[in-house]
Amino acid sequence: MEQTFHREIANQSLYIYGQQKLGGEVEIEGAKNSILVLMAAALLTADDVILHNVPDLTDIHSMSNLMCSLGASVKREGKTLIINASGLNNTSPSHEVVSKLRAGFFCLGSLLSRFGYAEMPLPGGCSIGTRPVDEHIHGIKSLGVNVIVNHGIVIASVRSQLTGNRICFSFPSVGATETLMMASCCCVGETILENCAMDPEIVDLANLLNQMGAKVTGAGTPTIRICGVTRLHGVEYTVIPDRIEAGTFLLAGAITRSTITVCSVIPDHLNSLLMKLKEIGYDITTTNNSITLTTNPDKSLTPVDVRTASYPGFPTDLQAPFLSLLTTIPGLSVVNETIYENRLKHTAELIKMGADIRAYNNLAVIQGYEYLSGAKVSGTDLRATAALILAGLFAVDETIVSGVEYLDRGYCQFAEKLASIGANIRRE
Ligand code: EPZ
Repeated sequence: MEQTFHREIANQSLYIYGQQKLGGEVEIEGAKNSILVLMAAALLTADDVILHNVPDLTDIHSMSNLMCSLGASVKREGKTLIINASGLNNTSPSHEVVSKLRAGFFCLGSLLSRFGYAEMPLPGGCSIGTRPVDEHIHGIKSLGVNVIVNHGIVIASVRSQLTGNRICFSFPSVGATETLMMASCCCVGETILENCAMDPEIVDLANLLNQMGAKVTGAGTPTIRICGVTRLHGVEYTVIPDRIEAGTFLLAGAITRSTITVCSVIPDHLNSLLMKLKEIGYDITTTNNSITLTTNPDKSLTPVDVRTASYPGFPTDLQAPFLSLLTTIPGLSVVNETIYENRLKHTAELIKMGADIRAYNNLAVIQGYEYLSGAKVSGTDLRATAALILAGLFAVDETIVSGVEYLDRGYCQFAEKLASIGANIRRE
């Protein structure tokens, strides 16, 4: 069982002195939002599943703990996870573990596929929205699964075998697409999923499943076909880079008017962000595995509007850090958050730093100025905390950001990496 790393992170904050130019290269880690679902997919087989390029994140510890509570073993060797689910002896993870990590709900699809039964606590909402799982449940019912929801527990069972079907999602839910891909791998017959999410993490899951012996085609397009097979075997697999971590560091370079390079990335995964950064006036150059953002002092920066959307649209996970940048670009811009109902909470904290923002439901109207002042601010979720740190990199004097426990969920050594490229930042 992967050691449960106890981090004394309660009450820790980040202390940032802004106005420092950044420069240099940042090595990007494996994608958190791919690793979590690939870990769930490891439950589909009794053989070893070895995942490379796995950073040390609290969400990954939480997922490891959840899988160990089911009887699986999860060992870490550096940035490699070795998972073995041959000893699986429990199909009902505890409410306490699943409520900490929404991604734990992904295990439903694997457990149903492997055992035809699972009791899965409904994941709680979080600060960015209620985040229901109705699309997941509607989908598994279409495969012949009997679902009862009782006292917040989803009790899912199959009388005989999971049977392939045609399922059309009401919107391209990332999690529902992933749950149904895993649930249908060993179905009798073919499953056709329509109106699927097209994120790189979906393609990563399909690649892993196919290397385990599944027959998945169409990942990355709106229609995915899965031909059921009898069993899946072990695999050794390297996870894709984290496009959200990469985008966050590019935005750190942009907000400090610097020149920085993110390495070990797939530039294609960030096209929507790169287009917006060019529209503002930054120079972007790419190689096959790196992206360089250059601030050209002879070019004036102009504000842009942004609307979040399902991939390949502008990612909701970069909305908060991007909004921080817009508060520093002189002129009017509008941010429209279309994916979550409550993902503009960071605007109140940015206003404490002198930002001029009017937020109405999912719309934020920003009057940007080349000035922010340091302040004490609180992060309320993973990406909002990152956004406040970026604002602190620009602000005059000291910014103190609490909510570091959120940051550790999805960014590995975020402060250390920023300090390595010139930021005046420390964690206490
Ligand atoms: C994944 O969440 C990511 N998490 C999120 O990243 C990301 O913001 C999101 O996709 C969208 O890109 C992981 O992959 C672990 P959805 P997921 O199903 O699967 C609603 C981060 O910061 N919805 O596409 O939950 C839901 O409430 C995190 O790294 C339903 O209504 O995303 C949300 O408003 C945050 N019913 C929207 O759809 C459902 O059955 C998008 O959800 C499922 C979702």
